[in-house]
Amino acid sequence: MISVRDVSITYKTTFEKAPPSFRKSVVRMGRGSRNIRLVEAVRNVSFEVYPGQTLGLIGRNGAGKSTLVRAIAGILPPTKGEIETRGRMGTLLALGVGFNREISGRDNVILGGLANGYTRDEIEAKYQEIADWSELGDFLEMPMRTYSSGMFGRLAFSVAVHLDPDILLVDEALSAGDAAFREKAQAKMENVAKNAGAMVLVSHGLGIVREMCDYVVWLEQGEVMMAGDPTDVIIAYEENQGVTETTITREDI
Ligand SMILES: Nc1ncnc2c1ncn2[C@@H]1O[C@H](COP(=O)(O)OP(=O)(O)OP(=O)(O)O)[C@@H](O)[C@H]1O
Ligand SMILES: [Mg+2]
Repeated sequence: MISVRDVSITYKTTFEKAPPSFRKSVVRMGRGSRNIRLVEAVRNVSFEVYPGQTLGLIGRNGAGKSTLVRAIAGILPPTKGEIETRGRMGTLLALGVGFNREISGRDNVILGGLANGYTRDEIEAKYQEIADWSELGDFLEMPMRTYSSGMFGRLAFSVAVHLDPDILLVDEALSAGDAAFREKAQAKMENVAKNAGAMVLVSHGLGIVREMCDYVVWLEQGEVMMAGDPTDVIIAYEENQGVTETTITREDI
């Protein structure tokens, strides 16, 4: 359902090296003083995710996981290679959840549904289910800027899983949730994955990755360091990092 073929993604960033002194800026005037930095965030990555499969993406901070997930979501075009996906996509990305903080949770749900191709009637019909699952009660009528990060995450999650995605992309979306929510969210994700959908799960919570994933890809500086059986890959990753499994790595999702 997801095919990633030899994908590379390079960010091109322009920046000022250091605030130039007055003298230097006069001297440099008219000669662009911009620096360009290229970051090869993802390099030559390939994998397939088949129906019913959950793929885990692990790796240290800055390894390229979120970049790759954004590319699968179609938000960021690959610099090289191809990505093909089949079906309706539900995304729960760490950055850029499409909620407007000034309007209520309820209105955001309706707008989110419309943006995902549902008709007004369809999304109204689904609203109650989404609202109930989120357990946000009266807060659904409040502007979302009044939400805690965990409450924000609950609603984002509830919307994403209830819009019947064929593919669910989850990038650290549960990190702000409490224990009860995580447990409920995990059960729901398993359910979505089972219903013939495919899922990509990015997490530093190696416990949940081991429990939920059929296949794990470990990224290191944008490259695939190892891919395969979750237990094997996670053990190798932990050894490489010099971390043994602790309560923190198990629970921090
Ligand atoms: N918008 C951007 N512009 C330039 N460079 C970026 C941008 N976003 C990410 N990068 C760089 O790309 C690399 C990969 O970042 P990415 O966010 O994909 O890592 P990650 O594996 O998701 O890390 P984390 O575990 O911290 O979430 C990093 O070197 C990062 O600095
Ligand atoms: Mg990330």
